[in-house]
Amino acid sequence: MAGFQSLPGFRDFYPEDFSRRQHIFRVWRQNASAFGFQEYDAPVLEPLELYKTKSGDEIEAQLFSFKDKGDREVSLRPEMTPTVCRMVGAKAGALKRPIKWFSIAEFYRYERAQKGRLRAFHQFNADIFGEAGSEAEIELIALLIQCLAGFGLTKDDFYVRLSDRDLWFFYLEALGFNDAQSRALLTAIDRYEKMGDDAFKSYTEAHGDLPVDQKDKVLAFLKVKGLAELEAALAAFSSDKIAARLNDWRKVLAGLAAMGLGDFVSVDLAVVRGLAYYTGFVFEAFDRKGDLRALAGGGRYNDLVKKLGGPDLPAVGFAIGDVTTGLLLEQRGLTPAYVTAPDVYAVIGGEAERKAAFADIHALRAAGFKVEYPFKELAFGKQFKVASESAAKLALIYGGDELAKGVVKIRNLTDRTEHEVPRDQVVAAVRDTLSGD
Ligand code: HAM
Repeated sequence: MAGFQSLPGFRDFYPEDFSRRQHIFRVWRQNASAFGFQEYDAPVLEPLELYKTKSGDEIEAQLFSFKDKGDREVSLRPEMTPTVCRMVGAKAGALKRPIKWFSIAEFYRYERAQKGRLRAFHQFNADIFGEAGSEAEIELIALLIQCLAGFGLTKDDFYVRLSDRDLWFFYLEALGFNDAQSRALLTAIDRYEKMGDDAFKSYTEAHGDLPVDQKDKVLAFLKVKGLAELEAALAAFSSDKIAARLNDWRKVLAGLAAMGLGDFVSVDLAVVRGLAYYTGFVFEAFDRKGDLRALAGGGRYNDLVKKLGGPDLPAVGFAIGDVTTGLLLEQRGLTPAYVTAPDVYAVIGGEAERKAAFADIHALRAAGFKVEYPFKELAFGKQFKVASESAAKLALIYGGDELAKGVVKIRNLTDRTEHEVPRDQVVAAVRDTLSGD
């Protein structure tokens, strides 16, 4: 069809797509609430300044930004984190700690089109403010896992890779790197999985002039998988900072294991996260097969609230995306069936019977039943055909004979049984019939 189309990377949600999206949102919302998180929302358009330098080069290059009619530099939000920091920062004194908030919202990034990446997508964001201890990481990683397991996904379908920017900085410092070198190196590590060893080496040569033996140590650390390996890699350094950090690691892993979630989490120092504001633990969720881009990502960002003008407030959080989550659910056959069937279809004899039917139809709908009826006069046979095509459970028959007797006929469209009920008892009779009494 010629004519208008939606922009590249933007989606139309036809009712069936919308119902899938609602299913995803429902599971997220239900679990966030079970974990005691409170829901908030925020503007979709923000001052451009909010995203300058704080989120990092990659997001900044992808902003949908423009000047509004008042000559303000504005941007559609690419993520929630700066906004939620502004909100919490502005009222931090009045909020009960720990502050546990979540939201479900749409975000906009001018990304290159690829599987699992769009220009408008939804995220579930969950963040904890005001807790410096790694108890906050335990709570959030458990919520992240439950927000995926809640769809029926298992440890064989997805996992969370846990890493630590603090530990990377401590390790690189112990190897003799200065802060600027460490930062350049972490950028290279963020790209390591796409580039491989050789490309990584040439990148680091171009950016950080590292001695070869150090490069090899970095590559070895990058490949650490598991707590025992991590402890072994750090055994040579007798730094208090490193010892305290390893204790945090043990605490997080033991806490998640005690919740029965140990199999969902793997230690993986190759994850460092592209966004600029992370300061400590960072984590990402992926499908086990490795077919899809990241399902979720997050970490600790203790400096951002302050950088945005608020108080010094530690924070941790993550976001899950709806695009990769939807693709994974589809791959695993976990997308729920799309159901539009009404509970009741009202079969109406003629215009004379319509008034009586309307009274009951409205009373049934007000009582919460899903009720359909034909807008126009139709032969009985046609109405029954429509009723059975709609997969309605019951037909309510408003014929002249029935109404003359002061009754309505209820036909069960599954087992074809029929019975008559007095007009003033239709709602109760429908309720009883549907509940199988
Ligand atoms: P992020 O890693 O940029 O983190 O995004 C989190 C998730 O959002 C990704 O894993 C992916 O599922 C989804 N996502 C991101 N970009 C796109 C896209 N273009 N198309 C489809 N899905 C996408 C953040 O946004 C951080 N603000 C998360 C956070 C919250 N950190 C602390 N609190």
